Amino acid sequence: TEFFGEFGTGKSQLAFQLSVNVQLPPEKGGLQGTTLFIDTEGTFVPTRIRSMAEAQGLNPENALQNVYWIRAINSDHQIAIVEGAKDFVQKHGVRLIVVDSVTSLFRSEYPGRENLASRQQKLNLHLHSLLRLAEIYNLAVVVTNQVMATPDMFYGDPTRAVGGNIIGHTPNNRVYLRKSKGQKRIARLVDSSYLEPGEVVFEITTQGIRDPQE
Ligand code: GTP
Ligand code: MG
Repeated sequence: TEFFGEFGTGKSQLAFQLSVNVQLPPEKGGLQGTTLFIDTEGTFVPTRIRSMAEAQGLNPENALQNVYWIRAINSDHQIAIVEGAKDFVQKHGVRLIVVDSVTSLFRSEYPGRENLASRQQKLNLHLHSLLRLAEIYNLAVVVTNQVMATPDMFYGDPTRAVGGNIIGHTPNNRVYLRKSKGQKRIARLVDSSYLEPGEVVFEITTQGIRDPQE
């Protein structure tokens, strides 16, 4: 699943919440598993994981230990982490892999039109290795992708105009996030291979990601 949207739309917050929720037992919507959290921007916040865990009735320290955080320093490193994750995933009961953000290092290392082809090729291979891990080890993969609002989006469907081209059709589900009032956000499911399109409103609260209050 890809979460895409502008800065501050809650992509990382959703990734944190999922890293906590995956630890819950199945009857509470979890997979009783751990998370491999690949952080490419240095925006992982351990204290936020603790407070989200506490709000879900989990022991905060255990919950944080169940999120295996790794900082990817460049795109080759990011690729290598995923290529080498097989044994780790099996050994540590990983049921969720997060890449937050999956595109930023590629964007900064391969800027401009002249690098577009090689960037796309590398990114596509990377996305396919993630997909392979998902299929072989029956785990969830969530990637984030920051997109900027462009003037183009006024001439058509913004979910296609922005960011649509960089990740293409590899993810099974694409969720477009946008800001609403205050801490409210709107998540729109687009391009799902097995779910109907739809929209929900959520709120970023002290406890974590929640249904809106009113
Ligand atoms: P980029 O990575 O810049 O593209 O943004 P993002 O989509 O990852 O945004 P992020 O998930 O960081 O969401 C930022 C929003 O979450 C802001 O509105 C913050 O106010 C809110 N937020 C971040 N941390 C906390 C927190 O600890 N408590 C609460 N209540 N809100 C928080
Ligand atoms: Mg973020």
